[in-house]
Amino acid sequence: SINPSDMLLVLLVLLQLLALASCAPPRCDPAVREDRCPEIAKTYSIGRSLEGRELLVIEFSNNPGHHELLEPEIKFIGNMHGNEVLGRQLLIYLAQSLCSEYLQGDERIQTLVNTSRIHILPSMNPDGYELAVSRLQERMGRNNAQNIDLNRNFPDLTSVVYNRRRQKGYRTDHIPIPDYYWFGKVAPETYAVMKWIRSIPFVLSASFHGGDLVVSYPYDMSKHPLEHNMLSPTPDDKVSEALQALQAHHPHSRAMV
Ligand SMILES: *[C@@H]1O[C@H](CO)[C@@H](O)[C@H](O)[C@H]1NC(C)=O
Repeated sequence: SINPSDMLLVLLVLLQLLALASCAPPRCDPAVREDRCPEIAKTYSIGRSLEGRELLVIEFSNNPGHHELLEPEIKFIGNMHGNEVLGRQLLIYLAQSLCSEYLQGDERIQTLVNTSRIHILPSMNPDGYELAVSRLQERMGRNNAQNIDLNRNFPDLTSVVYNRRRQKGYRTDHIPIPDYYWFGKVAPETYAVMKWIRSIPFVLSASFHGGDLVVSYPYDMSKHPLEHNMLSPTPDDKVSEALQALQAHHPHSRAMV
């Protein structure tokens, strides 16, 4: 027979399982929830997917919820293609490990959290993910619920920069979004991320994909309209190359950015 305290335990485990089954990342996993690391972690939503799923971010910093002068803001996005799940899982593990290593007193992680602000969006395309999970055989779920490829849905500012290069004193920052962009279909997931980017001055970002081993970099379109695969270095090419090398040469790196 089961005694009452065992019953309570069984009930608690069942409740936890239920909570796991019915929530979106990063809140799903009890170990990722901010309440384990309330001093350094905070979850917030940047909007909803077309089907109404929350786009949840977990943030790590010594002062979560606030931008601090000179503290670099960093963001990681996973699962923009709903069926590319590696990044989503890696980012959940990253959040778990930032929390637990900080609590255990790991100096490197503590310094990282104390001197920067790290935002993690494990799933930018939760609708696509749900479809992918339910229709595994059919390779569904890359796009969002409107069948928009979110990775092709952001405004193309690179071409604007290239077109401006012929003008004297052209700038590569603070480029307004061209009006024609708004005439096209803008997915709610894309719009949520655009608003997010506007609201926080990110200096470093990565979006994790799956399926091939590639590192793409900003401004990675060819400058010449007729010449594909032409090297088109960004003003930050040195930094960009160093980061890519770090990513590509890491012995455990199998993820794509
Ligand atoms: C990080 O900040 C916390 C809180 O201020 C402090 O207790 C801890 O010693 C700091 N860790 C490092 C490595 O600077």
